[in-house]
Amino acid sequence: MIILGIESSCDESAASICKDGKILSNVVSSQKIHNNYGGVVPEIASREHDRLLNHLVVKSINEANISLNNIEGIGVTKGPGLAGALLTGVSFAKGFSQSINVPIIGINHLEAHIYANFLAYPKLEYPLVCLLVSGGHTQIWYIKNIFDYELLGDTRDDAAGEAFDKGSRILGLGYPGGPVIEKIANKGNSDAINFPRALMEKDNLEFSFSGLKTSLLYLVKKEQLFDVEDIVASYQKAILDVLVTKLLRAINIKKVNTCIIAGGVAANKCLRRMVNDKLNNRINVYYPDINLCTDNAAMIAFLAEIYLMKGIRSSIDFEVVPNLKLK
Ligand code: KG4
Ligand code: ZN
Repeated sequence: MIILGIESSCDESAASICKDGKILSNVVSSQKIHNNYGGVVPEIASREHDRLLNHLVVKSINEANISLNNIEGIGVTKGPGLAGALLTGVSFAKGFSQSINVPIIGINHLEAHIYANFLAYPKLEYPLVCLLVSGGHTQIWYIKNIFDYELLGDTRDDAAGEAFDKGSRILGLGYPGGPVIEKIANKGNSDAINFPRALMEKDNLEFSFSGLKTSLLYLVKKEQLFDVEDIVASYQKAILDVLVTKLLRAINIKKVNTCIIAGGVAANKCLRRMVNDKLNNRINVYYPDINLCTDNAAMIAFLAEIYLMKGIRSSIDFEVVPNLKLK
């Protein structure tokens, strides 16, 4: 099937064409305008999606070298995300599906992040454990079979990506925080400062990052004499240590042979190195290419195709669900 995917849940406007499980085009426009504000401004995000989507969809169709009447279905993110931003993409997709008369399906953004791994590695086998780490979510899932999810751990407050973003904001390094922190951390000593790691007791699979953020804030306010590279490297290490420790625990508890990492934070190369060091010889570890970790529409189109192939579609009056859960 040839599917058009549309993504507009936060600050990436994106369109993609997938055919039979393979990407023909993957067009993403990151809304740089939010850099000026140190974080995403919802109203601006919606307006930017509205301005960009038509152009991006045309571009994705052209780059895929197909014509409009080749499209057999549309997948669009229906949640979780910013209400106005989701609404822009869903309204656009609904209008488009009506005009070319093809089925539409509203896609769960979190599920699409997970399925980006299946897009990258079609031969992945269940059961597996997934560390899902994005700007809004930090969760560990046990996935027994297709669409069969068990939540093993979640965050009590901030998500890992949020910890990167808020840390970067405190240090005045810009938005989004993840890539800039990763870059600066490469030049620092990650053992320079012993930032707190929360909820580390045996068997605990929950996360909490708000204390870490506060501790960074105190450190900066005290104006202690540390190099910014060392602060950043130590801060990043504190986030990643917790992620890797809990992922390892989940793998041991569920005794799986496969683990996948999904979401924007999975783009972090230090995280990849740490997970590989701890696990690679024992079990299979997968993460998608970096452009499939951060928000994109290829993962939306890919998952939409799986649903549509099973005959599952949405009715045209489906609504956006800003706090949509995976389960
Ligand atoms: O999945 P995503 O693109 O959007 C959401 O669904 O939230 O994730 C965005 C998050 C942001 O918090 C961003 O700072 C983080 O992913 N991120 C990274 C890296 N690239 C993006 N975090 C750490 N290292 C990176 N290289
Ligand atoms: Zn995302």
